[in-house]
Amino acid sequence: MLISLKRMLEKAERGQYAVGAFNINNLETIQAIVAAAEAERSPVIIQTSEGAISYAGMEELGCLVHLAADRARVPVVFHLDHGKHPALIEEAIKSGLYTSVMFDGSALPYEENVRTTKRLAKLAHDKNISLEAELGAIAGIEDFVSVKDRDANLTDPDQASRFVEQTGCDALAVAIGTSHGAYKFKKASKLDFERLLAIKLATSAPLVLHGASGVPAGIKKQCLKYGCKIEKAKGVADADIKKAIKLGINKVNIDTDLRIAFDAGIRQFLAEHPEEIDPREILKPAKELMIAVARQKMKLLGCSGKA
Ligand code: G3H
Ligand code: 13P
Ligand code: ZN
Repeated sequence: MLISLKRMLEKAERGQYAVGAFNINNLETIQAIVAAAEAERSPVIIQTSEGAISYAGMEELGCLVHLAADRARVPVVFHLDHGKHPALIEEAIKSGLYTSVMFDGSALPYEENVRTTKRLAKLAHDKNISLEAELGAIAGIEDFVSVKDRDANLTDPDQASRFVEQTGCDALAVAIGTSHGAYKFKKASKLDFERLLAIKLATSAPLVLHGASGVPAGIKKQCLKYGCKIEKAKGVADADIKKAIKLGINKVNIDTDLRIAFDAGIRQFLAEHPEEIDPREILKPAKELMIAVARQKMKLLGCSGKA
């Protein structure tokens, strides 16, 4: 069943848990995420980035997600992740495929971010589609050389409060020191929890944590063993994810951890079965590992059993 993000996150906010939002590019990843959600009886958000759309096509991915969601016994949101081009967001809204879209205007001047977010939120709401917005630069906490630098780039609580009021967005992605990809921290995992609490107290919209992959040790080890060069990869500690949810995060974005799982599965299988040429056999362990990773995330986020 496909539902809007607003509806899914309102329930998560009331229940003080977060829902996992997983990026997809292909059939196997969609199947793995839905299988994990069904096994965990968890609501789930399936999302396509602009890059995923240019790789596989909006309609192609949308139809696969719709088929999977129609058959699923759990609620599913189909979401456009990090839409930076208003024309693509309008296309996604018009397509009738998405139940939620994100406008990422975080790199724009504040007034322009407000103006475009507000316009797109209205377009989305007219079709009962939710809109996620972003304020602040999602960048690793170690990237900021001073407190002043950090304050200038991470989400400002008072500005966030104004932004939600002015735009009518249904969810807000906040910058509290996470970053995208596999290399988030050189030292220990560290987030600006004080800032998160202040944002939560100041705003009315559910909050979203991007760049939330954890780079699980077991999967990383498997990757390294079979030749993937990700020695320095480091993600957000599970304890930090839990604390962020306690402080008000209701949507947690995961892409990198599924990529690593996919990679580990394929590398191990090909190393152990050099004679195999059937893609269905080659992709099977990759899918199994993605299911395991997605299930572990759902348990961590507290959305298991909430479908
Ligand atoms: O936040 C970005 C996601 O990890 C998607 O990455 O643009 O390479 O598809 P992508
Ligand atoms: P990760 O790179 O940490 O998986 O973050 C994904 C994300 O935020 C997608 O929007
Ligand atoms: Zn993101």
